[in-house]
Amino acid sequence: MSELYEKTVGRIESSVMPTYAPKQLFVRGEGCRLWDSDGVEYLDFTSGIAVCNLGHCHPRVTAALTGQARTLVHVSNIYMNALAPALAEKLVQESGMEAKVFFCNSGAEANEGLIKIARKYGNQTGRNEIISMENSFHGRTLATLAATGRKKYRQGFEPDVPGFTQVPFNDIEALKNAVTDKTCAIMLEMVQGEGGVIPADPEYLKQVRALCDEKDLLMLCDEVQCGMGRLGTRFAFQSFGVTPDAVSMAKGIANGVPMGAFMAKKKYADLLTVGTHGTTFGGTALAAAAAMAVQDAFDKEGVLENCSAMGAYMMEQLAVIGKKYKFVQGVRGRGLMIGLALDCEAAPVQKLIQKRNLLVLTAGESVVRFVPPLNVKQCDIDKALAIVDEALAEFAQEK
Ligand SMILES: Cc1ncc(COP(=O)(O)O)c(C=O)c1O
Repeated sequence: MSELYEKTVGRIESSVMPTYAPKQLFVRGEGCRLWDSDGVEYLDFTSGIAVCNLGHCHPRVTAALTGQARTLVHVSNIYMNALAPALAEKLVQESGMEAKVFFCNSGAEANEGLIKIARKYGNQTGRNEIISMENSFHGRTLATLAATGRKKYRQGFEPDVPGFTQVPFNDIEALKNAVTDKTCAIMLEMVQGEGGVIPADPEYLKQVRALCDEKDLLMLCDEVQCGMGRLGTRFAFQSFGVTPDAVSMAKGIANGVPMGAFMAKKKYADLLTVGTHGTTFGGTALAAAAAMAVQDAFDKEGVLENCSAMGAYMMEQLAVIGKKYKFVQGVRGRGLMIGLALDCEAAPVQKLIQKRNLLVLTAGESVVRFVPPLNVKQCDIDKALAIVDEALAEFAQEK
């Protein structure tokens, strides 16, 4: 191990809160490749958990960042920069919604915004409760934890923020039964990410939309992981043909530069009047420049088309490989958000894959998750598939 590795591990042990348990130190990235501090090359099918959607150090983003860093990094939101409003206009145009955007810094903060806007609307008629989904993940702040449908994340941080209940995902009757005269919104991921790469049933989403219309509820879509091109459409909801009332974004929005955003139909957005919401770094010029470069790449580099084609190819090939192994239950997902569902814990399989220098994630307890960059090439998918096949074969022998 390199001296830098040893030093970094020591520094983490002595000075960094122990919330993560990282094992690898990466020092350089390009496209879907990373290099560790010993110079070893890895194929990265995690994209920093669906963040570096254009791959590491994409030239267009790097050029935007370096140019902007030389010009203007930040002014307070009590002044204007020209970049964030241009980005907001672009996002609204692409969404096809009549909406407005608020910029923040992370997925959790974007979801806090969805929650606040729903409460602001609902409180006008004495309604402030939100129904979210079992197995969902919405973030680590207190309100987003309360919305998150997996108890383990909340343990030790009680009391829960009040006003949230969860129902089983993809079950419209359970959802209808949970709506009360206090309900103001329904919150969901169109593809549950952390919960195990579980896509919503398109019919279910249409029924949720209809229920929201009937009961005057906001349909809130958390697109932090499944959005920003990941499903082959710019917004995840466009892949399902259902338009929400408000949508959150983060992760891939600026290809690794911290940024979040939420967008809401004007009727709701205009409730957040001057002084009712804010954040120091939201829409800062540097992050907005990176995010606009991501949008430019979507426009000019065929990224979304590649995502759809490569996603279909990878799912198909992975399913063929999966069939060879009894412990593989199946392949699911959309676009380049793909899960290999096992009948056992996924972590040991992930280890065997990573031993072969392919980085993948787990999701839920028993799913191996693949979220490569959206511009990934077929030859790299083929390499990754060969590694997965080998790792599954080794696991089958051990089992
Ligand atoms: C669907 C979803 N929502 C929200 C979040 C929280 O985002 P952040 O970690 O940027 O706060 C995540 C993070 O994994 C996520 O996957």
